[in-house]
Amino acid sequence: MGTTNNKTYKIAVIPGDGTGPEVVREGLKVLKAVNAKYRIKMDLTDFDFSGERYMRTGEVLPVNAIEELRKFDAIYFGAIGHPDVKPGVLEKGVLLKIRFELDQYINLRPVKLYPGVYTPIKGKGPEDIDFVVVRENTEGIYVGTGGFLKKGTPDEVAIQTSISTRKGVERCLRYAFECSRKRNKKKKLTLCGKTNVLTYQFDLWDRAFNEIGDKDYPDIKRDYAHVDALTLYLIECPEKYDVIVTDNLFGDIITDLAAVIQGGLGVAAGGNINPEGVSMFEPIGGTAPAFTGKNQINPLAAIGSAALMLASLGEEEAAKAVETAIMKVTPMMKSMRAAEMGMGTDEVGDKVVAAL
Ligand code: IPM
Ligand code: MN
Repeated sequence: MGTTNNKTYKIAVIPGDGTGPEVVREGLKVLKAVNAKYRIKMDLTDFDFSGERYMRTGEVLPVNAIEELRKFDAIYFGAIGHPDVKPGVLEKGVLLKIRFELDQYINLRPVKLYPGVYTPIKGKGPEDIDFVVVRENTEGIYVGTGGFLKKGTPDEVAIQTSISTRKGVERCLRYAFECSRKRNKKKKLTLCGKTNVLTYQFDLWDRAFNEIGDKDYPDIKRDYAHVDALTLYLIECPEKYDVIVTDNLFGDIITDLAAVIQGGLGVAAGGNINPEGVSMFEPIGGTAPAFTGKNQINPLAAIGSAALMLASLGEEEAAKAVETAIMKVTPMMKSMRAAEMGMGTDEVGDKVVAAL
């Protein structure tokens, strides 16, 4: 047992706001335990980027923050948001800024129903719900191009443009094909789009999908679903999916839906990945202000994100161990929902450590 190299990983930790610090604490607790077991060395550096800091200093991110973050092997992120800050300021100024500046072009969101976890879909179990969403993470409507004309007048015009580039689409598709090959399960990649209406952008996606698939991934079956239909299929027949690839906005939407079928945001882990650079791992859920400081929030999404971080650093064995430990703990929990788990946030972390 042990890591394949003698490296000390430099990890930037951004606990953020609300319940972010609580779930990050449990994630770090689990990392500490798994690192000891597998002789992995990590050097953690805390950053206080948050809505709270913004309210105090008026600065969303310090000027040198991105350059600082570039020096790390990975970033571990909690959640960001503040009830007194206008929507968009912190999201664009911190989270999206890091995703874009560090070119984390993949948002990887595994959707897996763990043992003993309630899914609202009747008659479906862990064998039916096990797929991965690969969301493009640096393009689409998220680029923020647009503006107002005659703002605040009756003649007001608001424009927001979605951008897809061949390069951006292609690298995302290749990552998704590779992901299906690596999983080695159904060997199927579903493109989720809207070719019937977004006849430019998804025409590009569709052509690239088929060209790349024909040329380099003949072993992977190709499948297509319009995004509206896919929301229906994910409820009706989640067992049909292996890897789903889609653009930034559709990926954002379908992964909230997908989180519900895997037990909720309390278990939904994610990674913002730059395969050639610095990646950032975060639970999909937000700051959950109603539960802040109460030791009631579910830390499994953050713990699962730590496992994704280990895997992306190449510590596959340790990542697997964390996931296996999570799967031993979920059956002991009453619910995946905050305040209904039948145990505290810290106890969930302790149980995962014990299961390791
Ligand atoms: C997510 C979130 C973000 C997004 C928000 C907070 C900007 O919903 O990570 O899915 O839309 O990407
Ligand atoms: Mn979202």
